[in-house]
Amino acid sequence: MVELRELGKTGIRITPIGLGCWQFSGGRGLAGRFWPNLDDGVEDEIVRISLEHGVNWFDTAEMYGGGASERSLNRALKAAGATQDDIVVATKWNPILRPAGSIRRTISNRQEALGDYRIDLHQVHNPASLSTIRAQMNAMADLVEAGKIRSVGVSNFRARAMRKAHAILQNRGISLASNQVHYHLLNRRIEKNGVLDTAKELGITIIAYSPIGQGLLSGKFHDDPDLISRIDGFRPKLRQFRRKAIEKTRPLIDLLKYVAGTHDATPAQVALNWLVHFHGDLVVAIPGATKPYQAKDNARSMNFRLSDSELAHIDEIARSVSS
Ligand SMILES: NC(=O)c1ccc[n+]([C@@H]2O[C@H](COP(=O)([O-])OP(=O)(O)OC[C@H]3O[C@@H](n4cnc5c(N)ncnc54)[C@H](OP(=O)(O)O)[C@@H]3O)[C@@H](O)[C@H]2O)c1
Repeated sequence: MVELRELGKTGIRITPIGLGCWQFSGGRGLAGRFWPNLDDGVEDEIVRISLEHGVNWFDTAEMYGGGASERSLNRALKAAGATQDDIVVATKWNPILRPAGSIRRTISNRQEALGDYRIDLHQVHNPASLSTIRAQMNAMADLVEAGKIRSVGVSNFRARAMRKAHAILQNRGISLASNQVHYHLLNRRIEKNGVLDTAKELGITIIAYSPIGQGLLSGKFHDDPDLISRIDGFRPKLRQFRRKAIEKTRPLIDLLKYVAGTHDATPAQVALNWLVHFHGDLVVAIPGATKPYQAKDNARSMNFRLSDSELAHIDEIARSVSS
């Protein structure tokens, strides 16, 4: 039985690992072009395998193909026979060039796309809205009061903005549930910019996105550095996938492989296990998958526990190879 953690102070209980559903964007829109267009059957299998291996929650967004990911998730959950009470669904409002009023205007589209499944967590995708944080949080609080969503989160918010969002919600008797941010062994920004400390102080869950560095921490690009030139999308243009960066981070991958060997695990599983245990219960992670075997690999990272000395050693080596 996989452990459950409370999402912020909401009473909603989630597994340390969820499934990120950006990969279900159907190749649509700017965000959707990052990943290949997956067949329905592949998406269904990724969701089924995640459920089978204990994952109880799913993160999607309006921006992922303009609702395509939400519709795919709805279809895949139904195909797997999941009921509302078995699972937790998180989605996000797209704030780009939009005022807060669009949170209320678009909620029926989110509900329609997600069909049978209620919105347990609704997040502001990033701080790019035309409206103030006050207006956005009040619009979200209205949805909670109307019973349309169960809790409120933000994403890509800095420490001050997060604190402000929390304070505004508190005036309405609600706690900010989460801040979804870029966080993994080789990207430690939130440890330095106050986001992690603020979350800890206020009881806000950190949802780590890109938790295996978009595949980097699986070690597959270190095993075959030419692999990056053979994949479509934007990753070949990113600095961390260049050959020099791959060589720099190799000592961490070697350690992840060594530790994985002692737990009958994989480097990706060790990287995920580190992320969801190094700060106690504060951080949960939402790896994405383009293939069913990856969903299984990632979900099974919940089946073992790194020791304190392993957590510390991995931390030390990751810091030494991070720029
Ligand atoms: N809020 C935000 O602004 C934001 C931003 C980014 C992501 N997110 C969320 O976070 C989720 C995860 O982030 P992400 O997709 O950027 O990064 P990620 O989870 O670190 O990496 C996912 C990719 O890595 C590869 N992979 C996954 N598991 C693997 C394994 N076990 N072994 C080898 N390769 C594996 C797959 O791509 P290949 O098979 O193609 O290599 C997969 O698509 C997204 O689905 C989305 O829900 C949110």
